[in-house]
Amino acid sequence: MNLVVVGAQWGDEGKGKLIDILSEGVDITVRYQGGNNAGHTVIVGDEEYIFHLVPSAILRRDKVCVIGNGAVVDPKALLDEIGALKKRGLPMTGQQLKVASNAHVVMPYHRVMDGLRDSKRAQKIGTTGRGIGPCYADKVGRMGVRMADLLNPRALKAKIADNLAEKNDILVNVYRHKRYDFDAVYQEYLGHGQRLRPYICDTALYLNAAIDRGKKILFEGAQGTFLDIDFGTYPFVTSSNATTGGVSSGTGVPPTKIGRVVAAVKAYTTRVGEGPFPTEFKGSMDEAIRRKGLEFGATTGRPRRCGWFDSVLVRYAVIINGATQLAIMKLDVLDDLPQLKIATAYTYQGKTYKDYPHDGEVLSHVKPVYEVLPGWCADTRKVRSFVQLPANARRYIRRLEELLKVRVKYISVGSGRDATIVR
Ligand code: GDP
Ligand code: IMO
Ligand code: MG
Repeated sequence: MNLVVVGAQWGDEGKGKLIDILSEGVDITVRYQGGNNAGHTVIVGDEEYIFHLVPSAILRRDKVCVIGNGAVVDPKALLDEIGALKKRGLPMTGQQLKVASNAHVVMPYHRVMDGLRDSKRAQKIGTTGRGIGPCYADKVGRMGVRMADLLNPRALKAKIADNLAEKNDILVNVYRHKRYDFDAVYQEYLGHGQRLRPYICDTALYLNAAIDRGKKILFEGAQGTFLDIDFGTYPFVTSSNATTGGVSSGTGVPPTKIGRVVAAVKAYTTRVGEGPFPTEFKGSMDEAIRRKGLEFGATTGRPRRCGWFDSVLVRYAVIINGATQLAIMKLDVLDDLPQLKIATAYTYQGKTYKDYPHDGEVLSHVKPVYEVLPGWCADTRKVRSFVQLPANARRYIRRLEELLKVRVKYISVGSGRDATIVR
């Protein structure tokens, strides 16, 4: 059955590790949205790999990886990533990696505008600065450059000319920034197209034909549900549909061909960048969990904000993603805590919220209602079966299952491949 791995919080749930493991059982892994704002970490033995655009399954040489049309591709970043993986011994051929010809291209002015736009806002988003928002804005605004255009000099010329006519005016007159030189951009992107040519194809046809031949697909989500452009904590979100709704539009594989949805959650919560975070720790806990969980952004290196598990948010994520299973990651990070809290509702101005409110102002001011559970104060890092977990760890997981109304199938107790419990 084809399956999706989707983040059920604010990203960095440990999707990379989970996808690395689950990809063993599939033939093809596909990224359906986002760009090199993502940072997915996979640890194999002593080796650490951080993937930004290339799907996290690429380490399995006999599998195919696809960057779908819903993703946005910074060609320079992709070429750098391909080059770095080649240096580490991976073949990185067009047989192993495919990029959708209708995926949109991140242009240099997108990266610059990302930073300039955020700097002008009173309420900053704290983006990764990779040009993701402006690229998706041009896609929807019908100004975008697509991968196929990089292979067609005439189309590329016309699109860059049109774009620079608009962007240079904005850059110079609104932001007092320097102009882009047409020839420099055109030649650079033509060059990227030549180098990426072996990878570019109609990935929707490829994927559907593969499914017809009985191949199994894993859809790799980037970011997480509360960074989703529609369902997240808008405007403090990314610019794509990270939720499972984005799978079909982002790959061309219809919903009727998707069977299983694994929602990845951390055993607690983190968030990078600005925006509401009801269960955020106050004081020394933040620092302690950040240190224990090594909570620093895999893309920007920024410290991640940390907090308690929020079942109000994750229950919402389970509903809108249609999660059939849950993967609880980083349980080991909670090993030392004598007490654990889970938010089960919010209160604000005398009102109780059992469901995630879309009003950003409400969400910024709510007070979580916590349920307190005893910790286990024991090392779980070597545990490999559910029954061997300390009783209070099992109790924590069972309580999450009750609150979220979905079965926990995977529990991760370390960053390595083997540090995983499958129920
Ligand atoms: P992603 O964006 O969802 O793929 O997650 P990231 O890779 O950005 O962040 C997850 C981090 O947690 C990475 O550094 C992983 O190596 C690490 N990690 C994953 N699972 C576990 C776990 O169960 N325990 C611990 N301690 N670390 C984990
Ligand atoms: P993975 O796939 C965590 C956050 C940024 C910022 C907001 C918008 O590793 O889980 P953007 O550059 O996308 O316009 O930034 O989204 N963000 C992420 N946070 N994990 C990610 O990806 C993220 N990708 C973007 O910090 O708050
Ligand atoms: Mg990440």
